[in-house]
Amino acid sequence: MTDNLVLGAMLFGTVQDERRSFELLDRFVDAGGSWIDTANCYAFWEHPSGFGGQSEETLGRWLARRPGMRDRVRISTKVGCEPTEAGRFPETAEGLSGAVIKNAIEGSLRRLGTDHVELYWAHKEDRATPLEETVAAFGELVAAGTVGRLGASNHAVWRLEQARRLAREAGVAAYSAVQQHHTYLAPRPGTRPTVVHRFGAVSDEVVDYAQSHPEIAIWAYTPLLSGRYTRTDRPLPEEYDHPGTTRRLAVLDEVAAETGTSRNQVVLAWLAGGRPSATPIVGVSTVAQLDEAFAGVALTLTTDQRERLDSAA
Ligand SMILES: NC(=O)c1ccc[n+]([C@@H]2O[C@H](COP(=O)([O-])OP(=O)(O)OC[C@H]3O[C@@H](n4cnc5c(N)ncnc54)[C@H](OP(=O)(O)O)[C@@H]3O)[C@@H](O)[C@H]2O)c1
Repeated sequence: MTDNLVLGAMLFGTVQDERRSFELLDRFVDAGGSWIDTANCYAFWEHPSGFGGQSEETLGRWLARRPGMRDRVRISTKVGCEPTEAGRFPETAEGLSGAVIKNAIEGSLRRLGTDHVELYWAHKEDRATPLEETVAAFGELVAAGTVGRLGASNHAVWRLEQARRLAREAGVAAYSAVQQHHTYLAPRPGTRPTVVHRFGAVSDEVVDYAQSHPEIAIWAYTPLLSGRYTRTDRPLPEEYDHPGTTRRLAVLDEVAAETGTSRNQVVLAWLAGGRPSATPIVGVSTVAQLDEAFAGVALTLTTDQRERLDSAA
């Protein structure tokens, strides 16, 4: 079983039709994958209703048609970003109140056709709800066995630490995983990737926090910059237009040539084998992309290759 690659199901049931979604899910499991990442809000921006749920519903139908499959996969889903008014995000994001969390997990379980999920995430911060309330509601789900483990996505490190302290004080389960955007290229200093939430990218502070808290798992979303490492039809956004990008792409090409792999595979190997290690969540639309990703996380970089990659600023 491969633990170091997560299948991102964000666009399953909307951009990827059911046949393609099932094909990718089947291939993922056949190749040894087990973690599947979704959210209650996927993918409201791609659906005419302006609301999410299609990804979880697709996963639910796939599980129903594959007897025994629920025991072979681990499901990670999220609460906090579903709009309460069609398509109006982030202004009407549901947030993380106790009532929202209780209601949202019930909806997710219903769509997924299961009675528990292995990992449940706060999708983004909700500063309008007292953190104690959020922490208590998530803690109750773990105590009830509905949720195996908790994670925080798109959180500032100080809020993560505050939530973990509150959980410790209340004697309930705390966040033990972080899901942020993470890849090899970095935007120009002083800017942030336009595709992510504020505090949504892995920063040096996140790395530092994870290094001193080994119980924290890091999951990396949009690790391949949506294919922009290799696709001439998809240029890098403007914030990557700086000398550091040129140097990093040159080293990526060098290491890809040495290992007989691709830029994408070196990026995935660099993430998965880093310290701390970051588990890539890949979004794929073809089996070939999925196979490329598996080969990427299976690649071990030499110390010298990693040093060259790390030091290219
Ligand atoms: N927590 C959060 O806020 C958050 C935010 C975003 C995503 N996520 C999670 O992360 C997952 C992945 O995110 P993502 O889809 O943004 O990231 P991604 O993996 O960087 O991009 C996926 C897209 O890149 C292209 N691609 C993938 N592999 C490729 C390859 N080998 N060669 C060329 N192009 C390739 C494909 O585009 P085409 O389909 O056009 O070919 C694919 O749809 C999501 O499914 C979701 O589970 C979480």
